[in-house]
This record gives sequence, C-alpha cells and structure tokens, in this order.
Amino acid sequence: MSRIAYVNGRYVPHGDAAVHIEDRGYQFADGVYEVFAVNGARLIGEQGHLDRLAHSLSELRIDWPLGRRALMVVVREVMRRNHVRDGLIYLQITRGAARRDHGFPDQAESALVVTARKSGPLNKQALFSGVDVITIPDIRWERCDIKSVSLLPNVLGKQQARDAGAYEAWQVDKQGFVTEGTSTNAWIVNADGELVTRNISTSILNGITRLAVLEAAQAADVNIVLRPFTEEEATTAREAFITSSTSHVTAVTRINGTSIGNGHAGELTSRILDLYLSYVDQHGGPKVTESWK
Ligand code: PDD
Repeated sequence: MSRIAYVNGRYVPHGDAAVHIEDRGYQFADGVYEVFAVNGARLIGEQGHLDRLAHSLSELRIDWPLGRRALMVVVREVMRRNHVRDGLIYLQITRGAARRDHGFPDQAESALVVTARKSGPLNKQALFSGVDVITIPDIRWERCDIKSVSLLPNVLGKQQARDAGAYEAWQVDKQGFVTEGTSTNAWIVNADGELVTRNISTSILNGITRLAVLEAAQAADVNIVLRPFTEEEATTAREAFITSSTSHVTAVTRINGTSIGNGHAGELTSRILDLYLSYVDQHGGPKVTESWK
C-alpha cells in the first residue's frame, strides 16, 4: 500500500510529494510544525496541538493556511488514507514560497504539508525498559516555546546522544539547569519523592504529553513541583523519564553513564506511565478508521 502525503491542497503519493525550492521553510527554516501521536486509530491531544500551533503561528506572524476545522479534516484524511492505527501525523506550515529575501514577503501563501507514519502499537514494556540520556549545553535560541522547524541544535544534540550510545540528550542552560531533551521534555523524581519538571517559559516547549502527564498526575494526587532542576539533581535523582508524542512516557535509567535509582524504571515512573495510558484511553479523539468508513 502506498503512502499518501498532503501538499498544498493535494493528496499525492509520498514519493512524489514536493515543495517549491524557494519555500521559506527550506531556505530560512521559516515555519512551524506539530507531531500528533496516533494510538488505536485515535489522535492524541488534538486540542492541545492546535492551541500550540496557534501560538507558534501567531508568534511568527504566519497565516493559517486553512482554518482549524479544515486543517483537522486534512489531518484525519491523511490518517485514513494511510490506514494509520498507531504512529504519528506530521504537520508543517511555512511562510510559503517567495523570492529569497530575509524580510517577510508581501505576498506569499502559507504552505501546508501533512504526512503520516505508521508504527507498532504502544509497547509498555519498551517504554518501561528505559533509555540512556547524556547532558549537553543548551545552545538554542531564546524562543524554544515556538515549535519552529529550525532544529539544528536539536539535530546536533540528538546525534551527539546517538554517538555516545544514548537515546536522548538533556540540554543544560548557562545556570546549570536542565531545560529539556532535544525532542522530549525532562522529568525527575527527587529524594523526597517529588515529581519535578521545568515550569513553562520561553526556554522549553510546552509538550502536549507533558500537559497530559501533569493533568493525570494531579488528578491522582502525585506531589508535583514545577521548577528547573540542575544537572547534579538529575544525575542523583531517584527516578527519571522523558515525555513526547513519539516517546510517550519513557523511563530514563542512566544519565551520563550513572545509573538512576537502581538502574530500572522506578515506582513512580511506572505509575505515571499507567496514568498516562489510561488518560490517553479516556481523552483520545474518535476512532478515525470507524468514523470515516
Ligand atoms: N518533539 N521538547 C522538544 C524540543 C520537542 O521537540 C518535543 C516534541 C517535546 C515534547 O512535546 P510533545 O509532548 O508535544 O510531543 C519537547 C516532536 C515529537 C518532534 O520533534 O518529533
């Protein structure tokens, strides 16, 4: 079965999908994106993704290519045409194609691309078995709240992690505090059993998975502290994990080669994973394969 992508108003075979060479996303990274998780043919956190997309677009003064409702019709159609039961939807909006000039073009139409990727169903055991993290300096710009396609520091950081045999790199700011992973939010459980994750600011992306975990953990009376934590606190944490639409809640069992806790996913991490999974069950949107048949 061939993959189908949506590009500026047309559904096309993935292999033929293309944008203009003067698209500003290509030349200036002048665009934004969202990654939606699909679980059991349902989109996770749809409203949160749309709200964050609205924030990114308005901060960069990029027009919506379609209204919210029409955009979600496209997203669901891409999901349906690709028979995605589990996987992800990638959505990218750029300022469009125009003669190369740094300032905004007078006339350019925002360009929209939506693609889908299938994966296996959410594997609790894999999330639970844990990954290695390294720490690196955070060399990004000061607007990490915007989900911009300008991801070079994140790309370099992720590769540094891979080269070190790790899954993710936690970025550390000039004051010695962890901001977030290159494509995930960072969490620890400290010696007092508190769940600690960085408060929202322009230094991190407000993850949709982060929000879901916070809501689910709050409802379950978990002791949550929203504040920056240091690299030192991270390496001496009782437990640690990362969250994102692609990693869900994944345990971190080593940081810079040091085992976290006893080197296995901790008790609270395990509970958070369960809380997150039932949150996803309760809050996922309608099943797309069913509603679109
Ligand atoms: N990344 N922080 C950064 C820098 C991210 O790029 C992401 C998401 C997150 C987690 O956000 P969410 O829970 O909404 O996925 C945090 C996506 C998955 C990506 O770039 O592929």
